[in-house]
Amino acid sequence: MSPTAASASHRAPGSASLLDVRDLRVRFRMVDGTIFAVNGVSLHLDRGETLGLVGESGSGKSVTSLALMRLLPPQPAAEVSGAIVFDGRDISSLPEKQMRSIRGRDIAMVFQDPMTSLNPVLRIGEQVEETIRAHREVDSAGARARAAELLRLVGIADAERQLERYPHEFSGGMRQRVMIAMALALEPKLLIADEPTTALDVTIQAQVLELLKQLTTETGTAVILITHDLGVVARMTRRVAVMYAGKVVESAPTGELFANPKHPYTVGLLHSIPRLDGEVGMLRPIEGSPPDLRTEPMGCPFAPRCAWRLEVCWEQMPDLLPLGSMAGSAPEHLVACHDPVRPPEVELARPDRPGFEPAPPPRALA
Ligand SMILES: Nc1ncnc2c1ncn2[C@@H]1O[C@H](COP(=O)(O)OP(=O)(O)OP(=O)(O)O)[C@@H](O)[C@H]1O
Ligand code: SF4
Ligand SMILES: [Mg+2]
Repeated sequence: MSPTAASASHRAPGSASLLDVRDLRVRFRMVDGTIFAVNGVSLHLDRGETLGLVGESGSGKSVTSLALMRLLPPQPAAEVSGAIVFDGRDISSLPEKQMRSIRGRDIAMVFQDPMTSLNPVLRIGEQVEETIRAHREVDSAGARARAAELLRLVGIADAERQLERYPHEFSGGMRQRVMIAMALALEPKLLIADEPTTALDVTIQAQVLELLKQLTTETGTAVILITHDLGVVARMTRRVAVMYAGKVVESAPTGELFANPKHPYTVGLLHSIPRLDGEVGMLRPIEGSPPDLRTEPMGCPFAPRCAWRLEVCWEQMPDLLPLGSMAGSAPEHLVACHDPVRPPEVELARPDRPGFEPAPPPRALA
């Protein structure tokens, strides 16, 4: 097991792991080159826990979750490696038939755009019932009754009549409620929600998220919630993993991450959102451009944008490791950084060390 993989299993003693992902890598071989989309993701999830997965566009959040579900598109063929231990067994190489029975029953997914996930030519009822019948032995009357019950559970009034309608007759918020109903129909152990409310307007977003929280708490379903919205992360999750260039660069209990960020990218991310006190003057976008995923990452991928970088950062990718003895940090706080941010530097968003200059790129990269 690599040091990175070892760190993934670092968690509070006695906790019951539902998911352990170790060193997950996904590459897309294209005609004109390779895309290094996921570059060694390691994370774990306890039973019933909610983990937020954040990171800028293209950082590999969706590809990671599709790889966990083994739902990557067939073209271009993706090369996937690493271990995905779910509920005690490695599902990374399970035959598709067995994987199909896990999908929906044990692991379910809600996507950003419910219109693309619902079949436009089938009535809502047919689709919800099909999900139920694919995994449970019930007759059609039983499936119908359960479908109506689920619609009521997600706050859709007049459920029996709504089951007769088609997806286009529903609003975006109602469609997403149907997707949540379908995802939770079988009380899965894990729900992966990939930006489940991004396509909805703000008030509906809040209602749908509240519903998701309530239902998953009731059913004891663990959740991986992928979002760009750190406000949502703060409200909904117990722990957060921050992704950059296809890697988890920091993970910590949610309150700890907001109060005591250690990775320079996390600090940038926290500074790039409007503050709750409305001081938009404090907004500081992260300078520089996202990494080019067409070249294999060498060194820390954040180095070109990082004010803290040392010489070693250009050559050596740091492992994701517990902060351990670092003063005041939570035991579950992991960071992949050669030069973690010190508390007084968080507000400044730059190193606070006299004479410090970020290490220039080696001649080969300059
Ligand atoms: N099917 C595919 N074929 C080739 N490249 C892909 C494919 N799917 C994703 N990628 C690439 O993999 C990288 C990671 O994409 P991914 O969709 O996981 O990002 P993301 O973090 O979910 O971003 P966003 O926040 O915009 O949803 C991107 O460079 C993307 O272009
Ligand atoms: S200090 Fe180094 S390792 Fe840490 S984020 Fe900056 S470049 Fe990466
Ligand atoms: Mg995505």
